Amino acid sequence: MLMETIENKVVLTADRPTGHLHLGHYVGSLRNRVKLQDSYRCFIMIADVQALSDNFDNPEKVRANITEVAKDYLSVGISPEKCTLFVQSLIPELFELTVYFMNLISVSRLERNPTVKAELQQKSFTDSIPAGFLAYPVSQTADITAFKAQLIPAGEDQLPLIEIANEIVRRFNRTYNTNVLLEAETMVGKVGRLVGIDGKAKASKSLNNAIFMSDSTEVLKQKIYSMYTDPNHVKVSDPGRIEGNVVFAYLDAFYENKAELEELKLKYQKGGLGDTALKSLLNNTLQALLMPIREKRAEISDDTVIDILMAGAAKARKIAIQTLAEVRDAIGLLKRTTDF
Ligand code: TRP
Repeated sequence: MLMETIENKVVLTADRPTGHLHLGHYVGSLRNRVKLQDSYRCFIMIADVQALSDNFDNPEKVRANITEVAKDYLSVGISPEKCTLFVQSLIPELFELTVYFMNLISVSRLERNPTVKAELQQKSFTDSIPAGFLAYPVSQTADITAFKAQLIPAGEDQLPLIEIANEIVRRFNRTYNTNVLLEAETMVGKVGRLVGIDGKAKASKSLNNAIFMSDSTEVLKQKIYSMYTDPNHVKVSDPGRIEGNVVFAYLDAFYENKAELEELKLKYQKGGLGDTALKSLLNNTLQALLMPIREKRAEISDDTVIDILMAGAAKARKIAIQTLAEVRDAIGLLKRTTDF
């Protein structure tokens, strides 16, 4: 019954609610989630507790962005009938799991994580690292294992975190001689990482160089026309460079007609194709992608979002309670025989 096992596989992902989601999230992960929701059991979590690990002094921002991120999900086509959408802080079992998992990984291993290292730099936490921030990969392990997720559609930057999660899973199963926890595999989108409109390595909300799915027609156009191209491509007839050219990076990610795109690249390299013409092509492409997403977003009320998230939390919590019972049992803790 191969079909059955495939369909029963659990897919889980999450985002920190610290701002609207952008096109980097779309190509890295959202696009895959929309596809996967038809064939897998799908959980999507809004990681408000993880967001607090570096925004503990700004809880209002985290709280306000829960509904924004949920609207991003629903507007790109994630369906609450197919996916369980929920908020992390409503599932307290995750934090009990986190404590058990903390024993199974060393501080130095947590410090050796390239994603965490890059974030520490960015946040100037380097001198004094909050324990909660260093430990967020452990909490992420709880997010994944509580639902027995085996597939994580996520951006490239999540690979080191999933690696830590799998190490903890193996250590847990070995230490307590059990197989209750499952390892997970990351599924990175075809375009692993989208550059920022300024040409910096990564589109990110903190670098202020991303195109958000909720950007208006005008803002989108303005961002496209400000994109970094080839500074030496001054006249239309000048030969231009493709490498490091942000407009081509975005066309690679979003323009469907690849054969035509190859021709445009050749023409640009030879000379004879202007930046304005290219930007106009990208503008048409992205406006066509984002228009229906914007329209859908405008129809979703805050109340609808909250109802969906509460129903999702109820479903998710049942599963987390079950896994936690199995974990406590595997460790050999006292069985809970009464409701408190
Ligand atoms: N670390 C992820 C991010 O920065 C968010 C996240 C939290 C996550 N828990 C997860 C991702 C579990 C995948 C699986 O966006």
